Formats: sequence, structure tokens, C-alpha cells
Amino acid sequence: MCGIIGVCALNRNVTPIISLGLRRLEYRGYDSVGIAIVSGDGLIIRKAKGDVDSFLSKFKVEELSGLTGLGHTRWATHGPPSDVNAHPHTDCSGRIAIVHNGVIRNYNTIKRVLELRGHRIASETDTELIAHLIEDEMPFSSSFFEAFVRAISRLEGSYAIAVINVEEPNRIYFARMKSPLIIGLGEGFNIVSSDIPALLDYTRRVIVLEDGELGWVTATEVKLFKLTELGLIRVEDDDLSTRVRFIEWSVEEASKQGFPHFMLKEIFEQPYSIKSTYEGNVEDPALRMAASMLWSSRNIIVTGAGTSYHAGLVFSYYLSRIARRLSYNIIASEHKLIEDSVGKGDVVIAISQSGETFDTLEAVRAFKARGARVIGVTNVVGSALSRESDVVVYMRAGPEIGVAATKTYTSQIMSLSLLTLFAALEGGVLDRSEVEDKLVKLSRAHEITAKAIEESLKHVPENPLVGSKSIYMLGRGLGSLIAREAALKVKEIAYIHAESYPAGESKHGPIALVEKGFPVYFVATSDSPEIAGNVMEMRARGAHVTIVKTSNWRLDVEPGDSVEIVEIPLEDSEILLEPYPLIPYFQVLAYRASVARGYNPDKPRNLAKTVTVE
Ligand code: M6R
Repeated sequence: MCGIIGVCALNRNVTPIISLGLRRLEYRGYDSVGIAIVSGDGLIIRKAKGDVDSFLSKFKVEELSGLTGLGHTRWATHGPPSDVNAHPHTDCSGRIAIVHNGVIRNYNTIKRVLELRGHRIASETDTELIAHLIEDEMPFSSSFFEAFVRAISRLEGSYAIAVINVEEPNRIYFARMKSPLIIGLGEGFNIVSSDIPALLDYTRRVIVLEDGELGWVTATEVKLFKLTELGLIRVEDDDLSTRVRFIEWSVEEASKQGFPHFMLKEIFEQPYSIKSTYEGNVEDPALRMAASMLWSSRNIIVTGAGTSYHAGLVFSYYLSRIARRLSYNIIASEHKLIEDSVGKGDVVIAISQSGETFDTLEAVRAFKARGARVIGVTNVVGSALSRESDVVVYMRAGPEIGVAATKTYTSQIMSLSLLTLFAALEGGVLDRSEVEDKLVKLSRAHEITAKAIEESLKHVPENPLVGSKSIYMLGRGLGSLIAREAALKVKEIAYIHAESYPAGESKHGPIALVEKGFPVYFVATSDSPEIAGNVMEMRARGAHVTIVKTSNWRLDVEPGDSVEIVEIPLEDSEILLEPYPLIPYFQVLAYRASVARGYNPDKPRNLAKTVTVE
């Protein structure tokens, strides 16, 4: 949902840092791009609809020079993608420039007031209003900072903002409310950014800002304040230095390393990310603490969005089957459906790769407000979810840049499987030797995944789903949960309507759509051999059936003209292991279908990696 970057340097040109930052942030939004550089006594602004590479070459951005500047990649909310709606935006005088990620809720009220006061609004964005608001407050303020604070106080909604003004060419003002913003500390420069990958090439030392914080950076200092109901409170420098974190992700991890797309690279990285999740969590006291919290809870609520919600479904199944605990899954944006019955004694497992998904954070806040405690499962150290959770389980999957979640899904399943086992141990449902036995098996998940990727590359055609407009992806038991994720992958990057429902439901309605040649994929797992009947009913109606199963059990179906069986090696009968051989097939399927249709799987239309709006 938009990427912002701002750089202040002492004696180096900031445009290369901003340009690289824009490339690294493009996964957050890619409908338009812009840059503002302070130069002489004015601002140089370049912006356009389109992607980062075309923008940088069209405007020869790397030839621009300055010591302070801003950059922005946009995912449109207020106003469609266009040159004029691209950020940065300016006030009437053109001396203040702003970039923003978020949504200003009181847009209409502010706009009316500003227009009455004579401001000329050029774009349809909510962002531009903030530049005019600052300008509007200037006559009533003793400094630019005071005008900035007064303007910010008038905003409702979510924002991560960076602002420059020609009167103070060596400063970037910033503010955060419900949209991520971090500060990267360099030697002779400082960076304000939406996310870690934008600054990894230059520094690993970061301060993660909290809601309500604002301030400014120069090349050598950071001044931070908290806007409270009582006014502005200064965050002392000593307190600030205790908040500096060292980021362990490497630049290589956040770049394509010769792969044509991040998504393919991240599919291939799964053996490493799964191993890292296992090894990083198996001895981690946080996981034990989470398990004990879980076990002693009254109700267990599992929440998240998209892929993270799907990982939560697998978790609930494991919890029930292995730890014998019932849990309740709720899509984060629908938390209102159950929040009135959530309270003290309940535990919420909130799953979010980014830890910044608006819907998930809102669900967490609603449940916490009613007395529930929260276990956050996230990949990003310092993310909002990690800060708002009582206990945090880190996925340790390394950065995921492709918009389609791949390696974080398998790492979520791994961390949640470990949580299940320790919860079962805590509750005495499994004894230590049973848990250790299963841990030994899980420690091999990375090898199983490596083999599965190799097999999937062999089995998935180079140009799959040719001519398909609509498909079913079905399963029973664990397979039905994996099929939901498979269908999401196909929808979001190959733009093919892929519907997933538990296979037993076919006869209750959806089978009416099936006619000769209709593609149906089955994710067949060993817990549900009865899926054979569902395959037969589809076959009888002429569907084109592909069954993807593991080799550790026998399915009573013979392959034939319209029934293909793909068997991925798995020797063990452990249910905790079954997602690893199966999911890569569908990741590769979606990836190849997307590329064969001429799409860019890293930048699916209408989507952004981290959804920080309501
Ligand atoms: O960062 P999160 O895990 O909270 O993101 C939640 C969803 O937006 C995300 O999983 C989305 O569904 C995936 N990008 C789909 O591949």
C-alpha cells in the first residue's frame, strides 16, 4: 500500500539512494512513482503513472542531484492512478512536498475547509490536502514544525508521512499513525522509509516508529516526539538509542539473485526458510511461553488475512487433531462477528507475515480491548503486530518481496506446527518422547520441500491452464485447507477464477457448473481417502481432473484420459509433514500460468504486498 522513502545526507547525492529505495519498495505499490529533491532554493519534482524502471529512465532521475529528497511508489486509494495523482504533492506555493501512505478519513471535511480558505487543490488525493494544511497553519505557527504538528493533529485515519520544505533544505519531517514507518541510521545520512528492504543496502540500524510519533531527521540527528491528548512529548535521545535495532536480513535476501521474479526465487528459498523457522523456534522460550498461554486459555481464536488466514486454518486443524484443542478461525476483517463473545481468559493467535496488515491489527486491538491476550506470529521484527502482542513467535523466513506469499506460508505452517506440539506437551496430550519423535520428523520438512519443488517443476506444464477461465481446487480434511491457498495463488497472479470449497460440498451445489473439460484440481491428503468418491463424481461429469497427492498412501482411483495423478514423494505418514510436498506444486502452477499469460507475478494488478488500509 504505497512505499515511501526520504533521505537526508551530509555530503552525498541522495538520488541514487532514493532510486534504489524505490526499486526495493515497488512491491508495496506500483501504479505510479515520484520523487522530490531539494535543490538551490526550489524543489525538483518528477512524477508519473507507471512503474519504477520506466519512471527512472524517462526522467533520467539518476542525473538529478541534491542532499535531501523524497520518493514514493503508489497503490491508489484516493483518485485513480495518473500523473497528477502520483506523489509527491505540494502546497499552493510549491515550497512544501509530501509523500504519504495511508488513508485520511476526514478528507471531505478538510477539502471543503481548504477550498473555502482559497487553496487550489490540483489532484484527487487525500495526500495533497496535508501539504495545504501545513501551508494553512504556517501563519499561526512560530516554526514549520509547529505548523506540521498542527496539521497532523487535524488528520483522522492512517498515515505514514514524509515532508520536505525549501526553507529547511536539510530536514525531513515525518509522522506515523497506523501505517508503517521506520528510520534507518547511517553515517552522515538518515533514511525514513516504509520498510526494511529500502534501506538494507545502506544501513541495518533502524528505529521502528510507533503510532502517534512524529519528528524530523537531518543527516546527523533524529528528533522524535509523541503526539498525545496532553500535547507533544519529546522522546529523549537516551530512550531513542535504546530503540535502535539491528536488522539481520541481508541485501542478497532482498534481491532477485538472477531469478526472473522474486516469487520464483522465494519458492526456491523454501527449504532454507523452513529450516530457519524450525531451528530458530524449536528452542525459543517464546514458543514455550506461547504454548503454555495457549493451553491455559479459555477460548482460542485464530485470525489473519489471505494466506495468513489460510495458515491459521491448518493450525486449527493440527490443534484439534494433535493437541485436542478446539479453536475458532475468523478472517481479520470480520472480527466484529465474534468480538462480543471474546474476553478475559481468551487467547488470540494473530498471524501476519508483515505484521502491518490493517485488518489484522484492528482485530487484535478489538480482542485486546475485551481482555484477550495475543500471540503474534510474524516475519518482521519490530512490526506493529510484534509490538502489540503479548508473546511473539517469529517466522524467521527472511524477507518476502513477491506479492504472492509463498515461503512465508510454509514458514507460518512450520511455526504453528511447533506451537501445536508444545501446546500438546503442555496439556499432557503428548508425552515428551512423542513430541520429540514428531520434532525429528518436522526437522526434515526442508528436505521434503526441496524434493517437492524439483518434482513440481517436472510435473507442472510450462504453459498450464491454457484457455481456462474458471477452475475448482478441492480437497477434504487437510487437503481442503491447502486447496484454499492454492486457489488464492492462481487467482491473484494468473487472473483465473479459481474456486475452492471442501470437495464433499460439490453435490450440494457447485457441481452444477461442471461440464466436459472443466478443470478440477484435487489436493488429496492421507487423512481423507474418501476423496476418491469426489473424484469419481467429477470424472462422471466429464471434468478434467488433476489429483496431486503424496506417495505415502494409496488413493483408490485409476488414472485415465481425463484423470491425471501427480504423486509427490513423502515416505512418512505424519500429517504435520503433508503440506510441504503439496504446496510447491500449486505455487509453481500459479507462477507458470501467470508468466505464460504474459503477467508479472511479482506485481499482480490491484494488489500490494502489505495492506495497510481498511
Ligand atoms: O502480511 P500479512 O500476512 O498480514 O498479509 C495478509 C494478506 O494480505 C496476504 O497473505 C495476501 O493474501 C498474500 N499476499 C496472498 O499471496
